[in-house]
Amino acid sequence: MAAPRKKDGKSEDRPRGNLKIARPEWVAVDGYFGDLLAPADGKLDAALEANQKAGLPAIDVSPLQGKFLHVLVQMMQPRRVLEIGTLGGYSTLWMARALPRGSRIVSLEFSQKHADVARANLKNAGVLNRVDLRVGPALDSLPILESSGVGPFDLVFIDADKRNNPEYLAWALKLSRPGTVILIDNVVRDGMVADATSTDPDIQGTRRMAEMLAAEPRLSATVVQNVGVKGYDGFALAVVLR
Ligand code: SAH
Ligand code: DHB
Ligand code: MG
Repeated sequence: MAAPRKKDGKSEDRPRGNLKIARPEWVAVDGYFGDLLAPADGKLDAALEANQKAGLPAIDVSPLQGKFLHVLVQMMQPRRVLEIGTLGGYSTLWMARALPRGSRIVSLEFSQKHADVARANLKNAGVLNRVDLRVGPALDSLPILESSGVGPFDLVFIDADKRNNPEYLAWALKLSRPGTVILIDNVVRDGMVADATSTDPDIQGTRRMAEMLAAEPRLSATVVQNVGVKGYDGFALAVVLR
């Protein structure tokens, strides 16, 4: 069994949100494929280290999930990407590195502290010029993006406060064009999403978002559950049809 990589060890000394610890075989398999497909990288690893030093929660995507975002961007060749929830810019960096020349990511972050760490990480990795980082509540920044005509976006990655997922999905749709891909992180949350009686506003937000995905005729959507170093979670994937 492959030993878990050092860079996964970061999770142990940073707060991890609500997610439970991953099963050892999930960690081993993430380590095995991660070593092959998302190997140690100076800039990405430095970003995680800086996040840890600054006390940011260890809720970045995993290395293989980051590589998923990277491959998605390579497949799509988007001109404009929207990310809601920057944290330390780890997912942003994975996407920025795959962007075609001249393309940009707008990334929205509530916390000035998180945004400062992200800016430093992106600068250190040489991709800050591809990222338009906007600080403040995303629900304040999104109308500004609309009124200033920054969209439409080709790819939207929703990964912020889950209670606002319905609003974020509505904005993603508003800022989309036919063919836009919308990816929403953390929709499974250790299986808690299946609990219709949950009073957790984040679970309720994700469930209402899922109902919107089902009801919206302009969207075709699915969910992929996943396990790994981050535990048991999943993402929703949707495409704008018209
Ligand atoms: N995408 C990142 C992880 C994001 S964690 C990665 O994978 O590397 C979620 C982030 O959303 C946190 O930094 C949090 O501060 C931010 N956030 C929470 N509420 C928000 C809001 N209302 N508007 C914008 N960002 C918010
Ligand atoms: C949490 C948020 C995330 O974006 C994530 O990937 C994992 C956990 C959280 O708020 O607990
Ligand atoms: Mg997430």
